Amino acid sequence: MNRPAPENWSTRIGVILAVTGSAVGLGNFLRFPGLAAKYDGGAFMIPYFVALLLLGLPLAWAEWSMGRYGGTRGHHSAPGIFRLIWKNKAAPYLGVLGLIVPVVIYMYYVFIESWCLGYAWHYLTGAMDLGRDPEAYQRFFAGYTGMEADASIFAGFLGTPLVFLVICIALNFILINRGLTRGIELFCLWAMPALVICALLVLVRVLTLGTPDPSKPELNVLAGLGQMWNLDAGGKSIWEQLANGKMWMEAAGQIFFSLSVGFGVIITYASYMKRDDDIALSSTTAVAGNEFFEVSLGGMITIPAAFVFLGAAGAVGGTFALGFNTLPLVFESMPLGRWVGFLWFFLLFLAAITSSLSMLQPAIAFLQEGLGLTRTRAVALLCGVGTAGTLLVVWFSKNLTAMDTLDFWVGTFCIYLLASLQTFLFGWVFTPQRGLEELDRGADLRVPRAFGFVIKYISPVYLLVVFAAWAVQDMGDRVEAFASDPAVRWSMLFLAGVFALFLWWIRIAVKRWSMEERTS
Ligand code: ALA
Repeated sequence: MNRPAPENWSTRIGVILAVTGSAVGLGNFLRFPGLAAKYDGGAFMIPYFVALLLLGLPLAWAEWSMGRYGGTRGHHSAPGIFRLIWKNKAAPYLGVLGLIVPVVIYMYYVFIESWCLGYAWHYLTGAMDLGRDPEAYQRFFAGYTGMEADASIFAGFLGTPLVFLVICIALNFILINRGLTRGIELFCLWAMPALVICALLVLVRVLTLGTPDPSKPELNVLAGLGQMWNLDAGGKSIWEQLANGKMWMEAAGQIFFSLSVGFGVIITYASYMKRDDDIALSSTTAVAGNEFFEVSLGGMITIPAAFVFLGAAGAVGGTFALGFNTLPLVFESMPLGRWVGFLWFFLLFLAAITSSLSMLQPAIAFLQEGLGLTRTRAVALLCGVGTAGTLLVVWFSKNLTAMDTLDFWVGTFCIYLLASLQTFLFGWVFTPQRGLEELDRGADLRVPRAFGFVIKYISPVYLLVVFAAWAVQDMGDRVEAFASDPAVRWSMLFLAGVFALFLWWIRIAVKRWSMEERTS
């Protein structure tokens, strides 16, 4: 059988930066501030940190231990690893989620990534000079992203956002084709430190903004920070705010999205660890690193900035759009703003590409080990499937409907399913006892023993309650959107097609693996 040569991370710092690179992305710099602003900051931070401790961190440890366990037994993708852990015929097929989630999120993520590159380019060339009118930036954003009409970004071909999209797609597949250590690890090794330096520069500027408009003294940076941290920032009591079930759900979803946990990514990345490598400290460092980027940099930059320029009402906006609409106003009102704007959007682009690269690796690993394809062929095949999805998102761009649909059904719903499945697999099949043995081998940090109890009993109940609350509050609207909007229907049809394709591939892989086992 044609099995790819085993790959491993080359250095400890390399793997930590690669995993942190996967975790730190648009979720940290765009999605988190958007959500925190929507729920008045301080109140949102409570369910956010509870979900980090009860879901995010335990599941990260679980994924790392199951991933390395699978990797040392020759599997690097969710279908292969689930099949190893659970001797049930359905197990590899359930692993389809570990392939679909990252691939489909990649399809729209790369589009947002290309906006970042495009904005960086516009700043560099001086074309992003729209004055101090917030609406001018909103109009620019709507035109740039094609929100005004379906397929509108195809209108003026060259010099349009499409060029940046093509560059981003090409870069992703060229880098991923270089392999693990020469591609992902090397890229993250210089991109991640560059990201910290750029973000710190912008943070210092935002925190020294003071009161940009003296005629509105209430719109100052301290009040902006209060918007993120004060428990009663929205004028409602904290208890009233905590009674909002959807906020708990979105906070948990943000933790998964941001940590790349329940994503199919960590399990694949961890599978490239060697048998006695530390995974306990590396995983905890990656989680802590992600939180530093998300809360200390992403949140502390965008929320105060949005507040001082737009006020509390203005800070409430579409999740991914908030940063694009408000930060240009910061750059506009500061010396060297054009260059800081360039740095900022280039930084976002770096953060995004280290994440999108990680979303491609699980499916590539699967195509190699499951279908016996060479890396280049696997990359070419995935490039075809991924680009078809991106084209769908770009085509149905009006109000970003296709993007929203995929982000909901895959970026939230399927992540939940996969996170729940992995919690069940780890807690009840693999068992916390074996998991802790795996985590302890080569460990530079002792994972608290209570982790076993949390992942077996608390995380599943938490997931279930949150899921039920979500279904009750949101499902009706989703069904209605399906019935009334053709863009939603096309997106769902496409999604069903991708599921069918990957399930078919898993069927072939299972046959190959069974034959391999019989002949060995
Ligand atoms: N974890 C990645 C992010 O936060 C997907 O953007």
